[in-house]
Amino acid sequence: MNIILIGFRGTGKTSVGQILAREIKWSFIDADEYIERRYGFMIAELFEKHGESLFRLLESDAIHELSRLDSHVIAAGGGAVLKYKNVKNLKKNGLVFRLESDCDVIYHRILKDDEAGKSRPRLTTKNLYDEIKSLMEFREPYYKQASDYTINTSKSTPQQVVNNICEILRTKGLIPY
Ligand code: S3P
Repeated sequence: MNIILIGFRGTGKTSVGQILAREIKWSFIDADEYIERRYGFMIAELFEKHGESLFRLLESDAIHELSRLDSHVIAAGGGAVLKYKNVKNLKKNGLVFRLESDCDVIYHRILKDDEAGKSRPRLTTKNLYDEIKSLMEFREPYYKQASDYTINTSKSTPQQVVNNICEILRTKGLIPY
């Protein structure tokens, strides 16, 4: 069994995943980092040189491979749920937690990451706020359909979110009390 974290950019999948994995002594893998290491490209570079469609193909391959693992916390990229086969692979051996945050919170987190040099490739030609708002709306049914549990991370620290997830894992008997 794996723990899968899905959700829009900036909802805290990587920070939560790292802390969660440490706490339950499982390994953590971020699907984007896996792709970067495997192909030797930064995601932003991949988008710029080869476009989003190639990235989506590599992302599906990566998810297919990662879903064969066991006892891993896996953070999927924000757009991974758009393909049904990715969701199917992730759910085969995974309990899926969707992290969600308000649009304004995501906007400020993404701006902060941009300023820190951790910029994400843009996905539309809209301004950043409108891009987030419209993609969140479009993706909502995909996230909803893919998730077993949803946790709002707008006002919580990553540690609080981890505590929340651990509580669920304990009641399901997946980790000890
Ligand atoms: C994407 C989210 C990114 C990354 C790529 C595309 C998306 O992952 O996979 O830039 O379509 O929302 P994060 O959600 O980890 O930022």
